[in-house]
Amino acid sequence: MKDLKYYLKKAKEEKWAIPQFNFSTIEQLKAIINVSYKLKTPVILGTSEGEASYLGMEEIVSLVKISKNKYKIPLFLNLDHGKNLDLIKKAIFLGYDSVHFDGSSFSLTENIKITRELIKIAHKKNILVEGEIGSIKGESQLSSKKIKILKQDLTSVSDVEKFVKETKVDSLAVSIGNIHGVYKKMPKLDLKLLKDIKKISKNFLVLHGGSGIENKEIKKVIREGIVKINFNTEIRIIWKNSLRKYLKNKNEFKPYKILNLVQNDIEKKLEEKVYLLNSNNKL
Ligand code: G3H
Ligand code: ZN
Repeated sequence: MKDLKYYLKKAKEEKWAIPQFNFSTIEQLKAIINVSYKLKTPVILGTSEGEASYLGMEEIVSLVKISKNKYKIPLFLNLDHGKNLDLIKKAIFLGYDSVHFDGSSFSLTENIKITRELIKIAHKKNILVEGEIGSIKGESQLSSKKIKILKQDLTSVSDVEKFVKETKVDSLAVSIGNIHGVYKKMPKLDLKLLKDIKKISKNFLVLHGGSGIENKEIKKVIREGIVKINFNTEIRIIWKNSLRKYLKNKNEFKPYKILNLVQNDIEKKLEEKVYLLNSNNKL
């Protein structure tokens, strides 16, 4: 079966993007697998440190491996926003397909140093590393708060130049006005900045905070070279609202019946994203 690098390269050449869907429950995982199978899309299954610790990294790796072989679909695991080096190394050791090192809180020098160290370990096992330059604000939840992006939060083109040269990182998460979560007022994306980053970076460019961004903006960033887009909040919202709705049925006690309905609702949302990213029929 083809690896993640193959699909990222393909997406880059053909100008579409691979969705990363985060999950932390079995019905979310089943929904992602079903959509990958049904729409013939490669998919990256994202687990943050919290999500991975809740389900168990060993369990996650085994479940994804079994499903990948059973359905013959390109499912790839990514440790999302890894900050704890022991956990990142554990993901590499257990066989995640890629790890994202979120070094946004470090100085550029320190970010480069740690990213290099991780790449050395990961590449020996053919595992990709996603680095990050700039700070992507917000949390993966629905919020009525206002969020302000400062100039220093955005990706600096000169930092990217130094970072990619010194680390040889595979993928790069950028901060171009994107934020985590769904807010009342979503900031606008800076396409000019994305174009400038693209000029000096041959890496696979990643957009975090996919939830809440208008479809036409998503299409634009793909046109400008983004090849992976992460979604979490919108999946969490559907999960919570659906579960709440179906639990109202006082006569139903079977978890598998209730959760199957939740799963179906999640699948509809994921399908929408797959068509938006145009990653269907790409196997
Ligand atoms: O790393 C995960 C994503 O960036 C999720 O962002 O919750 O805004 O969809 P989101
Ligand atoms: Zn993110």
